[in-house]
Amino acid sequence: MNEKIANIISKKGKQPISELTAYDYPTARLLDEAGVDMILVGDSLGMVMLGYPDTTHVKLEHMLHHGAAVARAAKNALVIVDMPIHTYDTPAQALETARALMEMGAEAVKLEGGVDKEEHIRTIVQAGIPVQGHIGLLPQKVKDEGGFRMKGKTEEEAAAIMRDMEAVVRAGAFSVVIECTKHSVAAAITQTCPIVTIGIGAGLGTCDGEVSVIHDLVGSYPWFVPGFARPKANVAAEITRAVTEWKQQLTLPR
Ligand code: KIV
Repeated sequence: MNEKIANIISKKGKQPISELTAYDYPTARLLDEAGVDMILVGDSLGMVMLGYPDTTHVKLEHMLHHGAAVARAAKNALVIVDMPIHTYDTPAQALETARALMEMGAEAVKLEGGVDKEEHIRTIVQAGIPVQGHIGLLPQKVKDEGGFRMKGKTEEEAAAIMRDMEAVVRAGAFSVVIECTKHSVAAAITQTCPIVTIGIGAGLGTCDGEVSVIHDLVGSYPWFVPGFARPKANVAAEITRAVTEWKQQLTLPR
Protein backbone atom coordinates (compact mmCIF):
# COMPACT_ATOMS: atom_id res chain seq x y z
CA MET A 1 0.00 0.00 0.00
CA ASN A 2 1.10 3.57 -0.75
CA GLU A 3 3.00 4.82 2.34
CA LYS A 4 1.08 8.12 2.49
CA ILE A 5 -2.24 6.27 2.46
CA ALA A 6 -1.05 3.84 5.16
CA ASN A 7 -0.10 6.85 7.30
CA ILE A 8 -3.52 8.48 6.77
CA ILE A 9 -5.33 5.24 7.62
CA SER A 10 -3.22 4.86 10.78
CA LYS A 11 -4.62 8.18 12.04
CA LYS A 12 -8.25 7.01 11.95
CA GLY A 13 -9.81 7.53 15.37
CA LYS A 14 -6.51 8.79 16.82
CA GLN A 15 -5.79 12.13 15.14
CA PRO A 16 -8.08 14.34 13.00
CA ILE A 17 -7.23 13.98 9.31
CA SER A 18 -6.96 17.11 7.15
CA GLU A 19 -7.85 17.50 3.48
CA LEU A 20 -7.98 20.78 1.55
CA THR A 21 -8.53 21.57 -2.09
CA ALA A 22 -5.90 23.21 -4.27
CA TYR A 23 -5.87 23.81 -7.99
CA ASP A 24 -2.51 25.52 -8.61
CA TYR A 25 1.17 25.20 -7.73
CA PRO A 26 1.61 27.96 -5.09
CA THR A 27 -1.51 27.06 -3.10
CA ALA A 28 -0.66 23.36 -3.17
CA ARG A 29 2.89 24.10 -2.06
CA LEU A 30 1.67 26.22 0.87
CA LEU A 31 -0.77 23.51 1.96
CA ASP A 32 1.90 20.83 1.63
CA GLU A 33 4.36 22.88 3.67
CA ALA A 34 1.65 23.46 6.31
CA GLY A 35 1.39 19.70 6.77
CA VAL A 36 -2.04 18.97 5.30
CA ASP A 37 -2.61 15.19 4.96
CA MET A 38 -4.41 15.24 1.61
CA ILE A 39 -4.70 17.79 -1.19
CA LEU A 40 -7.79 17.38 -3.33
CA VAL A 41 -7.86 18.78 -6.83
CA GLY A 42 -11.64 18.98 -6.61
CA ASP A 43 -13.92 19.52 -9.55
CA SER A 44 -15.09 22.49 -7.46
CA LEU A 45 -12.40 24.16 -9.58
CA GLY A 46 -15.13 24.63 -12.16
CA MET A 47 -16.77 27.12 -9.80
CA VAL A 48 -13.97 28.74 -7.81
CA MET A 49 -11.33 28.81 -10.56
CA LEU A 50 -13.22 28.82 -13.85
CA GLY A 51 -16.39 30.75 -13.01
CA TYR A 52 -18.96 28.08 -13.95
CA PRO A 53 -22.19 27.92 -11.93
CA ASP A 54 -21.59 24.31 -10.86
CA THR A 55 -19.23 21.35 -11.35
CA THR A 56 -21.10 19.82 -14.28
CA HIS A 57 -19.09 21.94 -16.75
CA VAL A 58 -15.74 20.44 -15.74
CA LYS A 59 -13.88 18.28 -18.27
CA LEU A 60 -11.03 15.82 -17.86
CA GLU A 61 -8.68 18.33 -19.57
CA HIS A 62 -9.32 20.81 -16.71
CA MET A 63 -8.42 18.19 -14.11
CA LEU A 64 -5.27 17.19 -15.99
CA HIS A 65 -4.15 20.81 -16.37
CA HIS A 66 -4.71 21.81 -12.72
CA GLY A 67 -3.81 18.41 -11.29
CA ALA A 68 -0.35 18.48 -12.89
CA ALA A 69 0.42 21.84 -11.23
CA VAL A 70 -0.64 20.48 -7.82
CA ALA A 71 1.30 17.24 -8.30
CA ARG A 72 4.46 19.28 -9.01
CA ALA A 73 4.04 21.09 -5.68
CA ALA A 74 3.04 18.35 -3.24
CA LYS A 75 5.86 16.40 -1.63
CA ASN A 76 4.27 14.99 1.54
CA ALA A 77 0.50 15.38 1.11
CA LEU A 78 -1.43 12.75 -0.82
CA VAL A 79 -2.67 14.23 -4.10
CA ILE A 80 -6.24 13.14 -4.91
CA VAL A 81 -7.86 14.25 -8.15
CA ASP A 82 -11.59 14.33 -8.82
CA MET A 83 -13.07 12.46 -11.75
CA PRO A 84 -15.37 14.90 -13.58
CA ILE A 85 -18.96 14.14 -14.53
CA HIS A 86 -19.40 11.71 -17.45
CA THR A 87 -15.81 10.49 -17.27
CA TYR A 88 -16.85 7.40 -15.26
CA ASP A 89 -20.23 6.43 -16.67
CA THR A 90 -19.12 2.78 -17.03
CA PRO A 91 -16.50 0.79 -15.07
CA ALA A 92 -14.28 0.62 -18.19
CA GLN A 93 -14.48 4.38 -18.75
CA ALA A 94 -13.83 4.95 -15.05
CA LEU A 95 -10.62 2.93 -15.25
CA GLU A 96 -9.47 4.76 -18.37
CA THR A 97 -10.05 8.14 -16.67
CA ALA A 98 -8.39 7.06 -13.43
CA ARG A 99 -5.34 5.84 -15.38
CA ALA A 100 -5.06 9.16 -17.23
CA LEU A 101 -5.16 11.04 -13.90
CA MET A 102 -2.55 8.76 -12.33
CA GLU A 103 -0.24 9.15 -15.34
CA MET A 104 -0.58 12.92 -14.91
CA GLY A 105 0.66 12.67 -11.29
CA ALA A 106 -2.36 11.92 -9.08
CA GLU A 107 -1.81 9.47 -6.23
CA ALA A 108 -5.50 8.66 -5.80
CA VAL A 109 -8.78 9.57 -7.47
CA LYS A 110 -12.18 10.58 -6.10
CA LEU A 111 -15.58 9.93 -7.60
CA GLU A 112 -19.16 10.58 -6.54
CA GLY A 113 -21.68 7.82 -5.82
CA GLY A 114 -22.23 4.72 -3.69
CA VAL A 115 -24.33 1.69 -4.61
CA ASP A 116 -24.54 2.89 -8.24
CA LYS A 117 -20.74 3.22 -8.49
CA GLU A 118 -19.64 0.11 -6.57
CA GLU A 119 -18.46 -1.74 -9.67
CA HIS A 120 -16.73 1.36 -11.05
CA ILE A 121 -14.75 1.82 -7.81
CA ARG A 122 -13.91 -1.90 -7.61
CA THR A 123 -12.56 -1.87 -11.18
CA ILE A 124 -10.28 1.08 -10.42
CA VAL A 125 -9.08 -0.33 -7.09
CA GLN A 126 -8.36 -3.75 -8.63
CA ALA A 127 -6.09 -1.99 -11.12
CA GLY A 128 -4.03 -0.72 -8.16
CA ILE A 129 -5.39 2.82 -8.08
CA PRO A 130 -6.51 4.13 -4.66
CA VAL A 131 -10.02 5.61 -4.54
CA GLN A 132 -11.70 8.08 -2.23
CA GLY A 133 -15.49 7.76 -2.44
CA HIS A 134 -17.98 10.63 -2.10
CA ILE A 135 -21.48 10.15 -0.66
CA GLY A 136 -24.27 12.31 0.77
CA LEU A 137 -24.75 15.45 -1.30
CA LEU A 138 -23.29 14.85 -4.76
CA PRO A 139 -22.55 18.17 -6.50
CA GLN A 140 -22.46 16.50 -9.94
CA LYS A 141 -26.19 15.71 -9.46
CA VAL A 142 -27.11 19.35 -8.74
CA LYS A 143 -29.01 19.79 -12.03
CA ASP A 144 -30.93 16.49 -11.67
CA GLU A 145 -31.90 17.37 -8.10
CA GLY A 146 -32.68 21.06 -8.74
CA GLY A 147 -30.15 22.51 -6.26
CA PHE A 148 -28.03 21.81 -3.20
CA ARG A 149 -29.88 20.32 -0.24
CA MET A 150 -28.76 18.76 3.06
CA LYS A 151 -29.00 14.94 2.86
CA GLY A 152 -30.06 12.34 5.43
CA LYS A 153 -32.95 14.25 6.93
CA THR A 154 -35.42 11.37 6.51
CA GLU A 155 -34.92 7.80 7.73
CA GLU A 156 -35.02 6.49 4.14
CA GLU A 157 -32.37 8.95 3.01
CA ALA A 158 -30.16 8.19 6.02
CA ALA A 159 -30.45 4.45 5.29
CA ALA A 160 -29.61 5.05 1.62
CA ILE A 161 -26.44 6.98 2.57
CA MET A 162 -25.46 4.16 4.92
CA ARG A 163 -25.90 1.67 2.03
CA ASP A 164 -23.77 3.93 -0.17
CA MET A 165 -21.02 3.89 2.47
CA GLU A 166 -21.17 0.09 2.63
CA ALA A 167 -20.90 -0.16 -1.17
CA VAL A 168 -17.88 2.15 -1.25
CA VAL A 169 -16.23 0.06 1.49
CA ARG A 170 -17.01 -3.25 -0.29
CA ALA A 171 -15.53 -1.85 -3.49
CA GLY A 172 -12.20 -1.23 -1.74
CA ALA A 173 -11.98 2.56 -1.36
CA PHE A 174 -9.53 3.72 1.34
CA SER A 175 -11.63 6.74 2.34
CA VAL A 176 -15.00 8.36 1.78
CA VAL A 177 -16.13 12.00 1.75
CA ILE A 178 -19.52 12.60 3.38
CA GLU A 179 -20.92 15.89 2.08
CA CYS A 180 -23.75 18.03 3.51
CA THR A 181 -25.29 15.22 5.49
CA LYS A 182 -27.28 15.48 8.71
CA HIS A 183 -24.67 15.54 11.45
CA SER A 184 -26.07 12.61 13.44
CA VAL A 185 -26.10 10.51 10.25
CA ALA A 186 -22.47 11.38 9.43
CA ALA A 187 -21.52 10.48 13.02
CA ALA A 188 -23.40 7.16 12.83
CA ILE A 189 -21.70 6.32 9.53
CA THR A 190 -18.26 7.07 10.99
CA GLN A 191 -18.98 4.80 13.96
CA THR A 192 -19.54 1.79 11.72
CA CYS A 193 -17.32 2.68 8.76
CA PRO A 194 -14.01 0.75 8.63
CA ILE A 195 -12.40 3.26 6.25
CA VAL A 196 -11.47 6.92 6.76
CA THR A 197 -14.50 9.24 6.71
CA ILE A 198 -13.98 12.88 5.71
CA GLY A 199 -16.79 15.34 6.32
CA ILE A 200 -17.74 18.57 4.62
CA GLY A 201 -20.82 20.37 5.88
CA ALA A 202 -21.46 17.26 7.97
CA GLY A 203 -20.77 18.76 11.40
CA LEU A 204 -17.72 19.19 13.58
CA GLY A 205 -16.31 16.04 15.17
CA THR A 206 -18.61 13.68 13.28
CA CYS A 207 -16.01 12.22 10.90
CA ASP A 208 -12.37 11.05 11.03
CA GLY A 209 -11.35 14.24 9.25
CA GLU A 210 -12.60 17.22 7.34
CA VAL A 211 -12.21 18.59 3.83
CA SER A 212 -12.70 22.22 2.89
CA VAL A 213 -12.54 24.11 -0.36
CA ILE A 214 -9.50 26.34 0.15
CA HIS A 215 -11.40 29.43 -1.05
CA ASP A 216 -14.01 28.88 1.70
CA LEU A 217 -11.27 28.53 4.31
CA VAL A 218 -9.29 31.65 3.36
CA GLY A 219 -12.18 33.82 2.14
CA SER A 220 -10.99 34.25 -1.44
CA TYR A 221 -14.33 33.62 -3.21
CA PRO A 222 -16.73 36.12 -1.57
CA TRP A 223 -19.49 35.71 -4.15
CA PHE A 224 -20.57 32.35 -2.82
CA VAL A 225 -19.79 31.12 0.68
CA PRO A 226 -21.56 27.93 1.79
CA GLY A 227 -23.43 28.21 5.08
CA PHE A 228 -21.21 25.58 6.71
CA ALA A 229 -17.92 27.34 5.83
CA ARG A 230 -15.76 28.56 8.73
CA PRO A 231 -13.39 31.10 7.09
CA LYS A 232 -10.10 31.69 8.92
CA ALA A 233 -8.95 34.61 6.74
CA ASN A 234 -10.33 37.25 4.39
CA VAL A 235 -8.02 37.06 1.41
CA ALA A 236 -10.56 38.77 -0.90
CA ALA A 237 -10.55 41.89 1.31
CA GLU A 238 -6.73 41.81 1.43
CA ILE A 239 -6.48 41.66 -2.37
CA THR A 240 -8.91 44.57 -2.72
CA ARG A 241 -6.96 46.56 -0.11
CA ALA A 242 -3.59 45.88 -1.78
CA VAL A 243 -4.88 46.71 -5.28
CA THR A 244 -6.53 49.94 -4.06
CA GLU A 245 -3.35 51.01 -2.23
CA TRP A 246 -1.21 50.20 -5.28
CA LYS A 247 -3.55 52.15 -7.60
CA GLN A 248 -3.45 55.18 -5.30
CA GLN A 249 0.36 55.19 -5.42
CA LEU A 250 0.52 55.29 -9.26
CA THR A 251 1.87 58.60 -10.61
CA LEU A 252 2.23 60.08 -14.06
CA PRO A 253 5.71 60.72 -15.55
CA ARG A 254 6.99 64.25 -14.65
O1 KIV B 1 -14.85 19.24 -5.67
C1 KIV B 1 -14.58 19.35 -4.47
O2 KIV B 1 -13.89 20.28 -4.04
C2 KIV B 1 -15.11 18.35 -3.56
C3 KIV B 1 -15.07 18.66 -2.11
C4 KIV B 1 -16.08 19.69 -1.81
C5 KIV B 1 -15.24 17.44 -1.29
O3 KIV B 1 -15.58 17.34 -4.00
